Parts: sequence; structure tokens; C-alpha cells
Amino acid sequence: MAQNRPKIAPQTLKPNFCNQTRNNNNSFARREKIKKQRESLPIASVKERLIQEVKAHDILIIVGETGSGKTTQLPQFLYHAGFCRDGKVIGVTQPRRVAAVTVAKRVAEECGVELGQRVGYSIRFDDKTSNSTRIKYMTDGLLLREALLDPYLSRYSVIIVDEAHERTVHTDVLLGLLKDVQNVRSKSAISHDNIADKKAKNGSLNEKENGTQSISFLKQCPNSQFPPLKLIIMSASLDARGFSEYFGGAKAVHIEGRQYHVDILYTVNPETDYLNAALITIFQIHLEEAPGDILVFLTGQEDIETVERFVHEQLLKLPEANRKLLTVPIFSSLPSEQQMRVFMPAPPGHRKVILATNIAETSVTIPGIKYVIDPGFVKARSYDPVKGMESLVVIPTSKAQALQRSGRAGREGPGKCFRLYPEREFEKLEDSTKPEIKRCNLSNVILQLKALGVDDIIGFDFMEKPSRAAIIKSLEHLFLLGALTDECKLSDPVGHQMARLPLDPIYSKALIVASQFNCLEEMLIAVAMLSVESIFYAPREKSEEWKTAIKCFSSPDGDHLTLINVYRAVDELLEKKRVELSNEKNLKGKSEKILRKWCKENFINGRSLRHARDIHSQIRGHVEQMGLRISSCGDDMLQFRRCLAASFFLNAALKQPEGTYRALSSGQTVQIHPFSVLFKSKPECVVFNELVQTTNKYIRNVTRIDYLWLTELAPHFYANQS
Ligand code: CDP
Ligand code: MG
Repeated sequence: MAQNRPKIAPQTLKPNFCNQTRNNNNSFARREKIKKQRESLPIASVKERLIQEVKAHDILIIVGETGSGKTTQLPQFLYHAGFCRDGKVIGVTQPRRVAAVTVAKRVAEECGVELGQRVGYSIRFDDKTSNSTRIKYMTDGLLLREALLDPYLSRYSVIIVDEAHERTVHTDVLLGLLKDVQNVRSKSAISHDNIADKKAKNGSLNEKENGTQSISFLKQCPNSQFPPLKLIIMSASLDARGFSEYFGGAKAVHIEGRQYHVDILYTVNPETDYLNAALITIFQIHLEEAPGDILVFLTGQEDIETVERFVHEQLLKLPEANRKLLTVPIFSSLPSEQQMRVFMPAPPGHRKVILATNIAETSVTIPGIKYVIDPGFVKARSYDPVKGMESLVVIPTSKAQALQRSGRAGREGPGKCFRLYPEREFEKLEDSTKPEIKRCNLSNVILQLKALGVDDIIGFDFMEKPSRAAIIKSLEHLFLLGALTDECKLSDPVGHQMARLPLDPIYSKALIVASQFNCLEEMLIAVAMLSVESIFYAPREKSEEWKTAIKCFSSPDGDHLTLINVYRAVDELLEKKRVELSNEKNLKGKSEKILRKWCKENFINGRSLRHARDIHSQIRGHVEQMGLRISSCGDDMLQFRRCLAASFFLNAALKQPEGTYRALSSGQTVQIHPFSVLFKSKPECVVFNELVQTTNKYIRNVTRIDYLWLTELAPHFYANQS
């Protein structure tokens, strides 16, 4: 955020951060530098061999250290080797949006083309591709969505599933899907020459010849011929064997990376406050160690912004000469132009400290890192299928993650990694991270699989099967939301509409319900604001000022209405300024500045707000396309709250005599989060959108409702409950 920008030497920051390529000499020098960098990447020496391997094998597993050049170089090798003939596309999936965007930008620059032309990216709510795009970076979730429209992924000649070791739920589902598509497409291509003959002789092909003898859901092989699909699974670390076994003994190729020695340092005792420990370590390095940038692994945006603030405060206490420390945050919801700042070198004489989530473990390669600080935690999804509750919890990293993190310090020379826990704790860590599919709510993927025509979810060829209980719970959840029929088929139109929206099923349903309640305008805002992390920015040391500022938006009815008030206040502000500034040049720049100032004064997180506004316009586009009626309930907020009850009935909670709440669908005892506007007033009955487990189980984004609305609006769930 603007107010978090370093306060040190702004005059020296500007030219270095903003003006990299303006000057021609600079841009020539940069091109030369990039060329040299590319030639020196470990992957460059095995280019020809890799191309041969891809030509020889339909499925290939490539394992190589982060930074060896897999993501940026391999697609370019394949492009030049002719894999994009006939307008076919090389698709590269990433588990993270940031990687898709930053890598696409980098590759476009390396190719000397404009982003969105030959090289582009496509992520949810942001598409930078065109008809001429041949190398397309995208999130794994997005490719799954594309499969809904094009089940054979016929535009692609090669699909590279990158960062497969992360085992996100989308990667796992995608692997199952691609295995099937590939099977059908290879057989389609091989047998195509014979198809006409055989058809003439036998009338039709039998199942086996169609390549669908296992659990394939692509029952019909289309008449048109597809070239075989080349499938490449890329991973930074280990488990090539697991992937190889899953793909019937597929060939694995290892690219040797360069790794320098990294000294691992542990704390003597466990640290109770890891943020404070991280802060102390940052300054210890800054003041005592040789030049080199620092990478700190934190659990999320909130932690990052807290540490960023602490660092700036601490810097002000130091003598001028010691203040040359620059913070750069990176996390997945950060707008991409701000994410790009991590790649820019610090001004001469300055040290850069990158505050990152586990995004920097493997997804992005940041040059210049010599020191890594690893508190040993990660924020992970966790799902309890019995209670049907998903929560985000901060848990210890696995050994594999700890190794990956420390490896970041040894890319360009020897480095140091400061683990903020004792050595004996390392031995207790799990070896590797549990695949997400084993610990998340499956409603979203099940809805997509159903839309893809996979009826038998339990029989689907997952690399690692989620538990039966989790599958059944999610099917039940989708049924209760009206997405599935009694026969477990996608319902029409609701299920199909929900599958089309790139949102969590519960939010998709909320938009559909809202169009019936005449408050889709309001729900679009609420869903957009709920889709980003922390709209409010609540510095601990200014909590009184924060509370006062927040009062002008807060609604006694709850957080959803409060979020809408914030959004509308921004709309009004920008509209007013647009009129006032209509004759001025650089209107966009000026309104940006005004918005930044306003956000600062009102303790609003500018980054999150901009992201929410972006999401809003995208989902508005989707619902318009779907033909949903977009209208506003005006001042009738009762109507909107009824709509929230009808939408989020699965997340309702009732006050208990002692002031805690009982979540009605799971029976868990929960509390309203202190950041909720309802924290003090504690109404009788509420709906909520998030359950976070820290020291307590907290519900966030809470709105007051009337319990009777639940029996009236969700009788299928509440009629028999007292
Ligand atoms: O995929 P892998 O981790 O093997 O490497 P990569 O992402 O292809 O990155 C190879 C090299 O390109 C990195 O070591 C960086 O030097 C550079 N790179 C960069 O400067 N900026 C990016 N956005 C991505 C890569
Ligand atoms: Mg990579």
C-alpha cells in the first residue's frame, strides 16, 4: 500500500524502480543481459535433448531446481521446434496467478514481443491473450474451465503442467482430466488413418479402439483428427516417481541445477512471536551481514503488512546511514504490477527485504537473494469432512518446504538461511506437504467435474483419491445449494449456471439467488469484496483512530453491508472527482492519487480495494452474459439481508447463552471475529462467510439475520431443525 512505501531516500528510489527500460541504451543493455542470462541457465545446455525427449514421448516428467529455466525456456524451445504449427498453442499451467502473469511478462520480453501477442497469459478475471498467442501461461484452474467449453483441449498441441509438486487441488484434477484427454487424442491420431477403413468395414468403432476402455468420460471420439497431445509435467523437487507411476511409467528427465552452499542456522529456543523474531533477524542481517538481499517467508498478506510496517518504524529509529533497507511485499492477491517490483534491483547501496508468502518457494525466482528467514509456518487450507467445515490454518511447513525455502539463498552464491525454530523441531516436521485435495472442500471441483460430464466422482482417476467422506459431504453440499438433482446430475439451469461462474459455488449461488431477490447489484459488490483479503487495514498501534474511521462505513446489520458502504463511498468519491477533474490532463493518474489518499485516511487497504473493483467488473460481465437480472434493492437492506440468509444458510450461527455461537450445520462452537462490526453487539442469529481457526474458531464477514428466515427461505435444510 502507498502508506507502506519505504520512507527512506525516495529521490533515489524513483529512477531505479520506475525507469528501467525507457532509455534505449538501457533497453539494449537489458536485452543483452537477458540473452546472457538465458544462455547460462542450466536448461540451455540440454535444450536439444529435451526437444528430442518431447518428440519421442507423449508424456514427459521434467524435474529441475527452481531457477533452472523450466518455466520460461521450455515453451520457447518447443515453439521454435515447431510445436505450434497449424496455429496450435503451447499451454503452461501454474498453480498461482502471480507466476502465470510474471512469467508471461518475462517470456514476452525475452521473445521481444508485446504481451498478449505471441506470448500471453490468462487467469481468472484477467485475460491477456489474442488469436496470435502461441505460448499461453494460465492457472491450472483456468485450463479446467476451458475444458468445459473444449473438452478435448483441441487448441493445444502441448500442455505443460508446471509446479506439479505443489499438488493443488486443481493440479490434481487437471492431471486426471489430461490423462484421459491425452489417451483419447493419441488414439484418435494414431487410429485416424484407419478410421475411415474400419468404419466402412465394421460400421462403427468399438470402445477399445476409441481409447476409452478405462473410466474415460470422453465417450465419443470426434470425427475430426487431433494431433496427439504432448503432456509435460514439471516439478521443482522430488516425487518424479509418483507422477511417473500415475502416468503408467512415463519417462522422467532431471535437469541439474546450480546450488551453492547454504548455511542453516537455527534458534536455540522456540520463538513464541515469529513476526517479532523475523523482524529482529531482518535487522540483525541488515546491520551485521555482508551485502545481499533478504527473503522472508510469512503466512499471508496480514503478516506481511505487519512486518512491513514494523520494519519502517524500526528504520526511523536508526541513524540515517543504516536506513538503506527497502521492503518489497509479494503475495498472490497483490496486483501484478506491484508484484513485479520484487524483480527489480534495489538502488545501489540499498538492501532489499522481500516479504513473501510461500509463493516465493518455487513459483517465482527472485534474483539477488543471499539470506532467507524461515519462521517455519505456512497458511494452509484444512477441511473437516465430518463437520463440512473448511478453514485456513497456520501450520508448520514440511521438511520439503523448509529445504526448498533454504535453497532460495544459494542460487547465485553461498547464502544463509535462518530458521526461526530449534533444530530438534526440524526433525519433527512432516516429510512432505499433504496434497490439497486431501484437505479441502471439494464442492468447487466436483461441480466442475460434473459439468465436464464426469458422473462417477468416486471412480475418477485421481492421483490420490480424496476421502469418500469428503466427496460425499461435498456432493451433499452441492445438492443443498440446488446445483445437483436427486440423481446427482447437474441441475438445470441452476447447476449449469453455477458451473459457469468462476467463483466458489456458494458465491455463485448467492448471485443467482440475488437476481431473484432484486439485489444483484448489492450481491455483486459483496461477493467482489469477499473475494479479496483484508479490505480494512488495521494497524495495531492506531486501533483507536481505525475504529473511528471505520465508524462512518459500519452498518449495525453487519460486515456485508459495511463492505458495500465502503465500495459505494469509493464510487461516489471517484464520480465526484471525475466531474471536478473532467478538464484536467492525466485524469486516471490523478484519481489514482486521490484514491490512495482516501484509502490512507480511511484505513482501507488500497491494494485489496482495487483488486475487488476489478473482480466486480469481471463478474458483472459474467452475470450479464448469463442473462441474470441485475437490479438494486435500493435502501431496502432488509431485502438484502434476507437474500444473504437464503444464500448462506449453510453458514448460519445462533447465539449461545454464554455469548459464543453455534454453527448450525456443523454444531461447532465459534466466535465472532474481533474485526467484525458485530463483535460487540452479538445479535441472536447470523450468517457468515469465513471460519478461521487461530487461538479460537472465529467467524468473519458476519451479518445479522432473523432465525425464522432460515426456515422460511431454506426449508429443505431447516424445516426439521428446531
Ligand atoms: O521454472 P524454473 O524455476 O526452472 O526457472 P524459470 O522460472 O524459467 O526462471 C529462469 C530464470 O529466469 C530465473 O533464474 C531468473 O533469472 C529469470 N527470470 C526473471 O528474471 N524474471 C522472471 N519473472 C522469471 C524468470
Ligand atoms: Mg518454474
